[in-house]
Amino acid sequence: MDLPLGPEAPRLAPGREHVVATVDEIPPGTHKLVPIGRYGVGVYNAGGEFYAIANYCPHEGGPLCSGRVRGRTIVDESVPGDAVTVRDDEFVYCPWHQWGFELATGTTAVKPEWSIRTYRVRVDGSDILVTA
Ligand code: FES
Repeated sequence: MDLPLGPEAPRLAPGREHVVATVDEIPPGTHKLVPIGRYGVGVYNAGGEFYAIANYCPHEGGPLCSGRVRGRTIVDESVPGDAVTVRDDEFVYCPWHQWGFELATGTTAVKPEWSIRTYRVRVDGSDILVTA
């Protein structure tokens, strides 16, 4: 599989804290892919909270951060046979087979033991910093 950021793309050294964006660059409901590690790290803004995850799906290696961000669908207890979406923008769904991962924890309900890596994010003034 080709590297999602291109094999010649400059990389940030892993294991350090990096300034990866300004707050204005990642409005709520969007993300930015930054060149850390082999596959990159996706930095997400979910309702004003920032999260960082590995751009690699543990199922079959899909480019996870190319997937759609949305909520989670659950049974609507008030309407038999119906469903509702909750927690908008808190999950990313892999574009290959639609496994969903919680941005905050990296867990998936499909196969909990195959969670993805998450990274520490902090905001300093207008800068977003990721330790990865
Ligand atoms: S590769 Fe991501 S769900 Fe299959």
